Amino acid sequence: MRSNAIELRGVSRTFGSGDGQVTALDDVSLAFEQGTFTAVMGPSGSGKSTLLQCAAGLDRPASGSVRIGGTELTTLTERRLTLLRRARVGFVFQAFNLLPSLTAEQNVALPLRLAGRRVPKSEVRAALARVGLTARARHRPGELSGGQQQRVALARALVTRPEVLFADEPTGALDSRTGRDVLALLRAMVDTEGRTIAMVTHDPVAASCADRVVFLVDGRVHGELTGAPAAGIAARMTTLKAVPC
Ligand SMILES: Nc1ncnc2c1ncn2[C@@H]1O[C@H](COP(=O)(O)OP(=O)(O)O)[C@@H](O)[C@H]1O
Ligand SMILES: [Mg+2]
Repeated sequence: MRSNAIELRGVSRTFGSGDGQVTALDDVSLAFEQGTFTAVMGPSGSGKSTLLQCAAGLDRPASGSVRIGGTELTTLTERRLTLLRRARVGFVFQAFNLLPSLTAEQNVALPLRLAGRRVPKSEVRAALARVGLTARARHRPGELSGGQQQRVALARALVTRPEVLFADEPTGALDSRTGRDVLALLRAMVDTEGRTIAMVTHDPVAASCADRVVFLVDGRVHGELTGAPAAGIAARMTTLKAVPC
């Protein structure tokens, strides 16, 4: 049996207090086996981004347990958590989070620099080449389209060769052809390199590239599908949206 690369048990996360309190995650338990590709879907506001951030150690749940490669994250100090993220985790943010004053290649090199590692130009160039952006290495984010910025963000997450990769709508800003290329790249990372990927998406076609789709509604897991075609995933999404609020 494969081991779990990521494991959440009874994870809850609330924002605010009193009348304004929002429960973003409500007692979520999920395991992501090593070397598998999982898509996370659900209506807007259902907790998908919060789930990814808690699973990646970027946000701390109010309660519950989060493990990456067997290490419990919720009890780590900030410093140890940062070191673990740098060593093992890649994250592609929904809003890219690129530094506007740095070029594409400087943005991609950043995680290596922050980790105090040597930054071989060849690795940075290889990461940009994997996302088809060799010709844009010297451009700043403001000189790139949304789709190109999204691919720089992906290259930045790949450059450290993370064991686990979290991607929040990584194809959301891409045209369909570039989106397909990015999905093929993610699939190959799982199939040939044994990495573990959790990807939020609204697109049933993108989700059908994953091994499994987990559905969230109102911060709770609302079932999953394994190996489903895009049409089956789309049909399930329609039933989720019909859930009364
Ligand atoms: N930093 C925050 N402060 C207050 N509320 C938040 C914050 N982040 C998320 N939320 C709320 O938590 C819920 C889940 O948000 P999110 O995880 O971003 O959903 P999704 O990614 O599925 O659209 C939403 O109701 C959202 O408004
Ligand atoms: Mg989101």
